[in-house]
Amino acid sequence: MKTKIGVSNSQLKESADILSVLLADEMVLYIKTRKFHWNVSGQSFMELHKLFQDEYVELEEIIDLVAERINKLGTKTVGTMKEYIELTRLAETPDKYPNQKDLIRELLDNHESIAVFIRKDIEHLNESSKDFGTIDFVTGILEQHESISWVLRRYLN
Ligand SMILES: [Fe+2]
Repeated sequence: MKTKIGVSNSQLKESADILSVLLADEMVLYIKTRKFHWNVSGQSFMELHKLFQDEYVELEEIIDLVAERINKLGTKTVGTMKEYIELTRLAETPDKYPNQKDLIRELLDNHESIAVFIRKDIEHLNESSKDFGTIDFVTGILEQHESISWVLRRYLN
């Protein structure tokens, strides 16, 4: 059945496309955070091991909400690693096992990058479709990335 929520089908498709790219970003960062949870070592091993676990659990919740919202907008949700790698704006770092500071820096950089991407997405949606449901939804996710960034930044001061 068609979605009738006051936003045209082409505009809903635009929102779904924006969310699909965000989903890919969240998925890449989720996998990266798990990798760092598994491989962190050094003096603050257990603290960072647990911190990264909290962060990937939060990302997993975000991923599920983004994926389901794409479906709510009337579009199929992408669900393969191949598609996520094609869609993401983040870079993976295979074969790299940074030291504690560098892996915190990389996670911080990725969370801040997603915050910047979401701001641009919000600006775009506000100028085009005015899909306020999606704008509100991604604004909440933006705030989550800002909070995680704040915590990571504290380790680097
Ligand atoms: Fe674990």
